[in-house]
Amino acid sequence: MENKKVGVIGVGNVGATLAFNLATKNICNEIVLKDLREDYLQAMAIDISQAANAANSSTNVSGDKEDFVNCDVIVITAGIPRKPGMSRDDLLLTNAKIMTSVIEEAVLTNKDAIFIIVSNPLDAMVYTALKASGLPKNRILGMAGILDSSRMAHFISKKLGTGQGKVKTAVMGGHGDDMVPLVNYCTVDGKKLTELLSKEDIEEIVTLTRNGGAQIVKLLGNGSAYYAPGYSSSLMVEAILNDTKETYPCAVLLEGEYGYKDIVAGVPVKLGKNGVEEIIELELNENQKEEFSKSITSVKELVNTLDQKFFV
Ligand SMILES: NC(=O)c1ccc[n+]([C@@H]2O[C@H](COP(=O)([O-])OP(=O)(O)OC[C@H]3O[C@@H](n4cnc5c(N)ncnc54)[C@H](O)[C@@H]3O)[C@@H](O)[C@H]2O)c1
Repeated sequence: MENKKVGVIGVGNVGATLAFNLATKNICNEIVLKDLREDYLQAMAIDISQAANAANSSTNVSGDKEDFVNCDVIVITAGIPRKPGMSRDDLLLTNAKIMTSVIEEAVLTNKDAIFIIVSNPLDAMVYTALKASGLPKNRILGMAGILDSSRMAHFISKKLGTGQGKVKTAVMGGHGDDMVPLVNYCTVDGKKLTELLSKEDIEEIVTLTRNGGAQIVKLLGNGSAYYAPGYSSSLMVEAILNDTKETYPCAVLLEGEYGYKDIVAGVPVKLGKNGVEEIIELELNENQKEEFSKSITSVKELVNTLDQKFFV
């Protein structure tokens, strides 16, 4: 294996799950973890390293500050998660402060890294990371679309009672209540979803997908989902490290694509060693265009708040 190094900032529920996935899959030589909680960080580093050994993986896992240099990919999950009754947007200013401080520090010792942002509200945090770091748009992208698509796939196979692992879905837009599930691009074992379920059933699935995060927040009572988010993030890391050019829905800065400029939103992206290799422009019907526009407006409101209250 070519020497490949991944940094994870924030080893709470999502960061630790991601690191566990990466370490046991043996897809990089080194994983360096970073967190404010020093003892917890060391516990995670030791535990995940031992999991890697159980998996006969050669990935070295550490929590040494001086090792947090020259990473190829850095995933940022640092920040506070939602509590019941909170929206992702309620986290805006707290997590913007955390995002700014961690990315400014990370770029100093990781001059070539590609950054994957996970902290919420996701699209606004990608915007914050871009603005705070000054890095080019291909090197900063956010994870949400893979997770939202996996949630949609889960609800489809539950509704059908079959198809687990054979459902292909696509969700675009912001990672918020008005994300845009692209029903006409969904298939189950190659068959169009629209031919398998009624309009009402599909509408129910769209609503469940949009509320998928909140459902888990409510059940947990103190925090948000982490297995699916951690695994989804690992897919993005893998595609970048292995330069696969795999297309995944990711949150990126749009500069004219889909008719929007200077705004971050989830769109299909080809991932490779340069991070964002290409933004794919899918054909959207009028209704999807309208929903995408609504989703962009919601992200814009957050970005405006950041510009007025944070980046002053
Ligand atoms: N994009 C998505 O789809 C998605 C999915 C799930 C969670 N999230 C978001 O990811 C974030 C993390 O969620 P979680 O469940 O892992 O939360 P968590 O509370 O379990 O972990 C967050 C970690 O960040 C650390 N941290 C805070 N400030 C830091 C700093 N300045 N430097 C280093 N570490 C710092 C904390 O100590 C903690 O360990 C939240 O904002 C959550 O909303 C996003």
